Amino acid sequence: MNNLKSQSYQVNRSDYEIRNKHRGLALWFTGLSGSGKSTLANVLHKKLFDEGMSSVVLDGDNTRLGINNDLTFSNKDRIENIRRVAEITKLFVQTGHVVITAFISPFKVNRTAAKEIISDNDFIEVFIDSSIEKCEERDVKGLYRKARSGEIKDFTGISSPYETPEKPDIHIQTNDFSISESTELLFKKLKAIL
Ligand code: ADX
Repeated sequence: MNNLKSQSYQVNRSDYEIRNKHRGLALWFTGLSGSGKSTLANVLHKKLFDEGMSSVVLDGDNTRLGINNDLTFSNKDRIENIRRVAEITKLFVQTGHVVITAFISPFKVNRTAAKEIISDNDFIEVFIDSSIEKCEERDVKGLYRKARSGEIKDFTGISSPYETPEKPDIHIQTNDFSISESTELLFKKLKAIL
């Protein structure tokens, strides 16, 4: 970029990490709408908070109601959605937070781009895996019904693709496990990384 220079500040990443007593890290949740991403993010975040850790949750619905409210669900806008969120995540990771992101991030290029922005070392891909049948049966927000009737276009899993992660760092099968079982598993894996 012309006329721009990256600035350094006196308080750096390791200062934050020493004070927080843990490293900064992105737990990048990916999965269908209704697979349990936000629910698990919420419970895990509370657990980390209660343990005195510095953590932040970013999710699709909230960011699309605010900073990303100019974006649609076209392929192009989903890529821009994830690019912006990955940049925000990076800022939090570099200031020593455990960032839990809950976005469908349906395309492999989405997830690869996010990993590149955030950095390989700081990015853990977490596949929140629930079958489309189960998500549609739960239909917590009533969106699958609307997608089937054509009221919502480009709906992930119905009229827009979801590319399943091939080698996620963590694989959580929410069809088979309860929220508390899934949270415990995630927490254990996270502790091993931190
Ligand atoms: S992403 O594909 O760009 O990563 P994101 O996670 O931000 O999606 O937003 C997904 C949320 O938006 C869903 O949980 C759902 O509540 C809502 N939503 C509204 N329309 C759609 C759609 N066409 N496809 C998927 N989710 C949608």
